[in-house]
Amino acid sequence: MKQNAQVCGVDFGTSNSTVSVLDAGQSRLIPLEGSAVTLPSAVFWDSDGAAPLFGRAAIAAYIGGEDGRLMRGLKSTLGSSLIHEKTRVGNRALAFTEILGRFFGHMRAKLEVAQPGTRHAVLGRPVHFVDDDPEGDRAAQDVLADIARSVGFDHVEFQYEPVAAALHYEATVQTEELVLIVDIGGGTSDFSILRVSPKQRSRAERDSDILASHGIRVGGTDFDRLLSLAQVMPVLGLGSLINKGKTPMPLHYYHDLATWHRINFLYAGRALTELRQIRYDAAEPALLDRLIRVLEERRGHSIAMAVEAAKIMLTDTLATPIHLADVIGVDSGASRAMFEAAVEKPVDRIAGAIDVVLAQAGLRPDQIGTVFMTGGSSSLPVLHQLVRAHLPAARVATGDMLGSVGTGLALDAARRFA
Ligand SMILES: Nc1ncnc2c1ncn2[C@@H]1O[C@H](COP(=O)(O)OP(=O)(O)OP(=O)(O)O)[C@@H](O)[C@H]1O
Ligand SMILES: [Mg+2]
Repeated sequence: MKQNAQVCGVDFGTSNSTVSVLDAGQSRLIPLEGSAVTLPSAVFWDSDGAAPLFGRAAIAAYIGGEDGRLMRGLKSTLGSSLIHEKTRVGNRALAFTEILGRFFGHMRAKLEVAQPGTRHAVLGRPVHFVDDDPEGDRAAQDVLADIARSVGFDHVEFQYEPVAAALHYEATVQTEELVLIVDIGGGTSDFSILRVSPKQRSRAERDSDILASHGIRVGGTDFDRLLSLAQVMPVLGLGSLINKGKTPMPLHYYHDLATWHRINFLYAGRALTELRQIRYDAAEPALLDRLIRVLEERRGHSIAMAVEAAKIMLTDTLATPIHLADVIGVDSGASRAMFEAAVEKPVDRIAGAIDVVLAQAGLRPDQIGTVFMTGGSSSLPVLHQLVRAHLPAARVATGDMLGSVGTGLALDAARRFA
């Protein structure tokens, strides 16, 4: 038990992060911001070089109009060439690895308060950081391991996020069953099939109970992007004509503005200069004026937040405004039907990934006892319908949407480092 007191689990998420420790064999998420156990994966870097802010405080600084850069969706830089690049903040160039290191250092400091001297950590990871690229996957994990070691975790191991969620779910089961974990987060969708049982859960060796794992790089930030491209970017000129009506507006400005981890590139590069030029030959210059103002005032994240809030509203309602009047002068709106049309392709990919994990396990859908749905995006009605249609015989269970992976990671850490 003494060793258990010095292990932890770290769920570094695209949208939210958690850290877990063990208390008398029970996993517990530690407070990371005030009394909150979730920390939004957000960093705000002041232009003047003051110490960075993290989580809700980072988001509040941005909304409050402080001069600096808000960074979200940083996990998406892992598994892309971006992780080895730098981003401009004020007059400094910051490496993404340094920014991630500061975020991890912040979590490590909170852990030091909750459980001093913890050097053993199991880090969650998506089954695939990158689709169809084993080398990219390994590289992404290596970068994450280096970052974790740099903040004082001397012993770092990795576990698939959906396997961790399964260990969390297993703590509640009364009988042995086959469970399919469906973890739809901010950046990835991950799936594992495990044999869970009250008797097995204390065993050290569980590999034979993990029947299959699969994942794809699709998540809530993609749903945000597609909703933004469908319902917001057109009022900023997407689809309008330029060059004397001969060509449509280039897509890449809108793609960057609608993609959380790419927004800041629009402020640092030549985008503003180019857009001011393009505007002269635009068929609808008023739309481009709005876009230019968004870049000048660095309100890209405000748009992304309004879109995300509308997406979340559509989980409980059939139609909602997208509140943008204070950012671009007009509100937009969305219905659940148009949202579901916009996300049809990634939802189809999620359906395909469920087929793959079942095939890998050699199981028919009716052999799955329970589907445990977790991750913030698993609340989406379209995904519940998909799971029920795919596995009509299975029970669908939900749990702590934002905490199940983190909770499971400490249970895994206890077994591995015992
Ligand atoms: N009620 C809701 N309906 C739809 N989406 C939601 C809801 N609540 C949260 N989300 C979305 O869930 C996502 C965050 O989920 P979560 O915190 O599980 O992701 P994460 O663990 O940080 O990401 P990942 O595991 O992919 O790295 C965000 O995209 C958020 O918009
Ligand atoms: Mg997650």
